[in-house]
Formats: sequence, C-alpha cells, structure tokens
Amino acid sequence: MEVQKKSFGQLPDSQEVGIYTLTNANALKARLMTYGATLVSLEVPDRNGNLADITLGHDSLDGYLRASPYFGCTVGLYGNRIAKGRFTLNGTEYQLAINDGENHLHGGIKGFDKVIWKAEPVLEEGEVSVKFKYLSKDGEEGYPGNLNCMVIYTLTNKNELKISYEATTDKATPVNLTHHSYFNLAGQGEDDILGHELMLNADHYIPVDEGLIPTGEIRSVKGTPWDFTRLKTIGVEIAEVKGGYDHNFVLNGNEQELILAARLHHPGSGRTMEIFTKEPGIQFYSGNFLDGSITGKSGKVYRKHYGLCLETQHFPDSPNKPNFPSTILNPDETYKSLTVHKFYTE
Ligand code: BGC
Repeated sequence: MEVQKKSFGQLPDSQEVGIYTLTNANALKARLMTYGATLVSLEVPDRNGNLADITLGHDSLDGYLRASPYFGCTVGLYGNRIAKGRFTLNGTEYQLAINDGENHLHGGIKGFDKVIWKAEPVLEEGEVSVKFKYLSKDGEEGYPGNLNCMVIYTLTNKNELKISYEATTDKATPVNLTHHSYFNLAGQGEDDILGHELMLNADHYIPVDEGLIPTGEIRSVKGTPWDFTRLKTIGVEIAEVKGGYDHNFVLNGNEQELILAARLHHPGSGRTMEIFTKEPGIQFYSGNFLDGSITGKSGKVYRKHYGLCLETQHFPDSPNKPNFPSTILNPDETYKSLTVHKFYTE
C-alpha cells in the first residue's frame, strides 16, 4: 500500500492544487486532488484482472476548471437542490446563492467542489487515506455558521473506497454532504451505462416537479420504472422516465446501521460495485445532461448516459419539507456520515 503526492497545477489565482495517489495491495488505484476534494480517477480490475479507470473526469486541472458537471467532487454544503435557495430556520429566513434556474444546487455558485481543501495522507494497517479539511465561513453562499468540515477518502486492501464525513458548526445550518463520481464500470468513455444492471435497496422514491424539486410525496416504486428492488438493466424502462433518472430513492434502512444501498454490475467486464451507507437516501442520476460537449480523460467524448451518479445523502429540499428527515446541524452536535464503495467481479 502506498500514498504519493504531486502537484496537479495551479488555480488562476496561483493557489497550488495537490494530487494524491492511493494504491492498495491489489493494485486498485485512487487519485484525489485538493480542488473540490475530488476523486480524479479510480482504477479497478475486470474479471480477467485488467485495470480500467471507471470514473469520468479530466486529465488536467485545466479541464476541471473549464467544464465539470461536478465530476468526482465532494458536494457541499448541501447536496442537490433547495427550492428557490430559500429556507427558514429558528425564525430567520435565509437566501442562498441561486445557480440552477431559480433554485440552489450542490452548495451554490462556489460550492465545496470549487474550493481548495487542506489535505493530509494517512497510512494505517490495511488502508491508505487522504484526510481533507475545509472551513466554510459564516455567510458563504448564504449559509449560516462557520462550518468545520472533514472528509476522509480511504482505500482498503478489501477493495473498498470509504468516504467518511464529519462537520461541526457555530450556528444552526442545513448540511448534506455527498460524493459525485460519474461511474462507468466498462471503463470511462467506453459506452453508455444503459446496459449496466442496478439494484437499489429502496421501496420508495421521491417524485419531483419540472425544476427537479421534490413534491413532498414519498411514493412506492412498485410497478413503476423506479423499481430497482431487484437487479435490473438500467436501459429497460428509462424511456418511460421523462428526462431520464434523476431521483432520490428512500433507502430501506434506519440511519443507525451501514446498509447495502446499491449494487451496480457491468455484465461485459464483470465489474461490480456495492454501496453501503447510513444515509436515508441515494440520488440516482443517469447522466442525462451529458451531451457530447465535454471531452474528458484520454480524449473520450462524454455523451448522454455515459456515466451515472449514486449519491448517498439526505433528501433534496429537506429544509423546506417537514416530513423529510432533518438535515439541520446544531452547534452542540457533530454531523457524521459514512459511505463505502466495495468492488469485486462476478
Ligand atoms: C443532480 C442533477 C444535476 C447533476 C449535476 C446531480 O446530482 O441530481 O440534477 O444536473 O447532479 O451534474
């Protein structure tokens, strides 16, 4: 196992961006940069032991600065949308930055994906990590409170990529951190993901309006194209879902234990990924807005559905939906969250 650090270039304002390469005993390799605490690449073997990079992104920092629909980044302060960027907390109305039509998406104009995180490598028995830290100042993108944030990405010898989050605040604020890799288990840029098979451990999902804001309803997946309770080829019913899948699924868990949330399988390569989490939801986004306008790693063109995101999180717009689990972090509490991606072949 090892961890190596290099420079990944500089931002226009001369801030240095570092990139860490984590390698485990089975040759799995994860590269993480300090800009956005971003997973730049993830190499995992197929059933014949051939490694491929299974995440979309860019070869250089410049690519990320030019065109990145949140490739591989850590999303914060609030993953997904808050309607009109507005919510009321303890009697005060807050207005967040608007960056998606009339709504707030993924932390705003300069979210956690566009800031430099402090990073520190950690080597432990059977695992290597990078510990990222960021202080979001009171008022950043409209959010109340100084939020001290820590995200640790760990690669283990059991072929797991673990992401653990911790945060504390000095004023009550919503918090919903997640990870935004676009996965393609065939290898990035090879093909679309419509032939992948997906299982989601969710009997319910959250319908959304035209602006992708939850209506507030929690609906059964039974008999609908949203039923992934058994492994199902993604392309089979996607035409019945307007725009493609971009929905939060309500996990059959209790927020206390780490549960299996998703299983993704690519029949051609045998690569399989399982996602475990303590979060109540998972956003399944089938790369609907990729349109061939971005050329990514190794000159690959990212067309519609060339990657998919499975973002473990609380539900979108929770600050305005009293029936959804609360996302409010108070000053006397510690936000903690853990997601594990496990890789094997079948
Ligand atoms: C959201 C999509 C959004 C995408 C941005 C996903 O998490 O669900 O609606 O367009 O992120 O790349």
